[in-house]
Amino acid sequence: MNRKNNKVIIVCDTTTEMLMADSELRSCNIVFQLVPTPSQYGSICSTSIALEETYKSQAKAVLANIKINYNIYPYEVKRLTGLMAALKKEGLTTEFQVIINKIELGHELTKEDIIILLNAKEALEVKTLFSIADRFRKEIVGDVVEIRGAIEFSNYCAKSCNYCGIRKGCNSTKRYRMKEEEIIEAAVELNRLGIRTVILQSGEDDYYDIDTMCSIIKRIKLETKMGITLSIGEKSREDYLKLREAGANNFLLKIETTNREVFKNIHPDNDYDTRIECAKWLKELGYVNGSGNMIGLPGQKIEDIAEDILYFKEMGIHMIGIGPFLPATDTPFENLPPGSVDMTLKAIAVTRIVCKNVFLPATTALASIDPDGQRKALEVGANTIMLISTPEKYRASYQLYKNKNMVDIKSAIEAIKNANRRLPKYLKLTEKEEL
Ligand code: 5AD
Repeated sequence: MNRKNNKVIIVCDTTTEMLMADSELRSCNIVFQLVPTPSQYGSICSTSIALEETYKSQAKAVLANIKINYNIYPYEVKRLTGLMAALKKEGLTTEFQVIINKIELGHELTKEDIIILLNAKEALEVKTLFSIADRFRKEIVGDVVEIRGAIEFSNYCAKSCNYCGIRKGCNSTKRYRMKEEEIIEAAVELNRLGIRTVILQSGEDDYYDIDTMCSIIKRIKLETKMGITLSIGEKSREDYLKLREAGANNFLLKIETTNREVFKNIHPDNDYDTRIECAKWLKELGYVNGSGNMIGLPGQKIEDIAEDILYFKEMGIHMIGIGPFLPATDTPFENLPPGSVDMTLKAIAVTRIVCKNVFLPATTALASIDPDGQRKALEVGANTIMLISTPEKYRASYQLYKNKNMVDIKSAIEAIKNANRRLPKYLKLTEKEEL
């Protein structure tokens, strides 16, 4: 059973058409959010436009100005039925059962509820949590796994985050900067694979000024029409606006932790309030807002992870990367223990249950600590995989942490197949890649 609300969703036939609609609606000041396309409206385009019913006729009038194919459907908040009926109650604590009942009734979970779910230890509790998250994933976003490609175009960084292998002052890293041409070439190569979203990621490197970044964005748009995600750190509002106007669609700026003390301890030269302000600007400017956290940071408690999940929900974050902290060579945190795979999987599962219609990547960090980590994440709520699409000669130098797994199309396909899920229709694979 689904609860009706007063929203509708515009589902375009292709990503190109969705991006055209996005810019046309925005230029006419229509308020909307970009959300993963609900599975029942399954189309080639993984992202759709959700808006209040009251804007529907206005939006249709605006979209009549551009030639695109789309459908409008009611946008329903998913509810799961039969959870309580299917529960193996013996072995589950009463408080656990009360939470499952709340989920079934469509009630919001409190911080205390989330903590109880994250604390699930008994095999039956963990299994129950994972299967509910997997059902939400299936009913909300379906079986197709979204594949995106990341080009890590520079590993120079002005910041000294204590966990990060490309932090300023880290001498074990050979620094590189890709030329504009090389970045475009790598994006074109992704487009050849059929990939519809490219992620441009780097350290905080002002060598690429805003005009250069805008030029790169415009050229990729012109040559490939791909959706563009930026992951280049904190900037001014003005700069975010310029990048958005140049054609960037999504921005990944992780909060890493919502505990101010832990944040300060891992980011000696960042300010928590600035990070939050940046995230708010990105949202205001109409970016699809990406965030995420690390699990197992020094001083981080389960309560903090619960707060992170509530933050993602309250901020309306649409792409949430959750990965274990992993020690990186030649950093202050080099000798700390890595975060736990089990806790990371539980955090992914709870995030799917709480945030519902979002992109949840099976992160590279998870693939790096556990070769089967991405398959496991896909089975507990995740629906996205990010390929490392940095040219081979630079790849090894973007070591955010030790033993980074260079997730490629082959390993992504393997995780997707092993999780019994489907490849996106937009992929154009050669025989070699399909093996
Ligand atoms: N361990 C785990 N994840 C890391 N990242 C960076 N360094 C590490 C590390 N040592 C993640 C952060 C960052 C993203 C680009 O990579 O979450 O936002």
